Amino acid sequence: MAAKADEVIARCRKLASFSEDSGSTRRTFLSSAMRDCHRELSSWMSRIGMNVSVDAAGNLRGFYSGSAPEAPRLLLGSHLDTVPNAGAYDGILGVVAAITLIEAIGDQKLPFAVEVLGFSEEEGVRFGVPFIGSRALVGRLDEEVLDRRDAQGISVREAIRQFGLDDNKIPQAALPDDVLGYVEFHIEQGPQLEHLGQPLAVVEAIAGQSRLEFTFTGCANHAGTTPMNLRRDALVAAAEWIVAVENAAHEVGGLVATVGRISVKPGATNAIAGETCVSLDVRHAVDEVRSAAVQNLTRQAEEIVKRRGLSVLAKQSLNQPAVTMDAFLTEQIARAMRASGCGAHRMVSGAGHDAMILAERVPAAMIFLRTPGGVSHHPSETVLAEDVAKALACGEQLLQQLAASSEFLKRTCRA
Ligand code: HGY
Ligand code: MN
Ligand code: MN
Repeated sequence: MAAKADEVIARCRKLASFSEDSGSTRRTFLSSAMRDCHRELSSWMSRIGMNVSVDAAGNLRGFYSGSAPEAPRLLLGSHLDTVPNAGAYDGILGVVAAITLIEAIGDQKLPFAVEVLGFSEEEGVRFGVPFIGSRALVGRLDEEVLDRRDAQGISVREAIRQFGLDDNKIPQAALPDDVLGYVEFHIEQGPQLEHLGQPLAVVEAIAGQSRLEFTFTGCANHAGTTPMNLRRDALVAAAEWIVAVENAAHEVGGLVATVGRISVKPGATNAIAGETCVSLDVRHAVDEVRSAAVQNLTRQAEEIVKRRGLSVLAKQSLNQPAVTMDAFLTEQIARAMRASGCGAHRMVSGAGHDAMILAERVPAAMIFLRTPGGVSHHPSETVLAEDVAKALACGEQLLQQLAASSEFLKRTCRA
């Protein structure tokens, strides 16, 4: 298993080289780097007898048949896209691990088929909205998303066509009704497993997340001639609010709130900012706590601009409820972990994942791998080979457990 783990790590590092930026990893929705990633993964999948396709939402899909043509299917996978200056494992590890598990099945035919999914867009980097790929599988890749435009003014729909795909076929990307469940391997992206000294965890729930954009509008003016008491400075107002965001998050247990992006107009050293655009990401395991936090932060922005004689506009781009993972699959995963010699630590995911979208239609579950240093969305993101080996052992054990489970095999979503 150690050799397989080393190969998984080597493959992830190779795929990390497929990037839109030289010297760092950035792979966004249907970019040329994504095409290179598709090509490499397709060659690995085809070599082990999988039927490979790319659906109209740009998801890479590898199908490995079961023991009978009408066998139901288990979904495995994760996302292929990355944030800018990314690490080598967020998302892609789940796809490479899934392919490696298919390789390990060898000539055995399971009583279910396995479809490996490489989602085209989970991070929301190019179009500001996440889960574009997995939304297509649950029938939620709607007009509002398809009409969103990137920084170059290209819409999602146009990006699909430019990649050589047919947006009219998006409905065909929807999940069939023979799906037994979805399991996603993913790095934890945080410090908990390292702190606990555990290699793996089974995810019980995924925190809900809100993403918004706050535009503070004041009055641009000359930095040298405008007295301090006559200014309506949009950057200072935003700065006061950003500190308020941090303070508010510290006051509520389990709440995280992040301002990750800011843009300023006119953006000159000697000009007072007339407009500042600020992102906000708010997460909590309980939806009511998250929405109360968003309301509180919106109210604080309005108080700040009122006092300073500015205005503010808040636009929400995501309101993703928290999602509980499937109890049967999480129990099966915990059993497989114990059988593989690991503790079966259960935890909530602070990061969002495609599993929370798939869970709208099929039973979904996740297996976390320890993230040394707790660092992610950064080039120093890493995994331990022995943890990858344990994840693969757990995955092989899980497939055999599910193959032997009559309860699992009768779970299809057929009406
Ligand atoms: O932002 C997230 O939660 C994940 O990394 N997409
Ligand atoms: Mn991520
Ligand atoms: Mn991810």
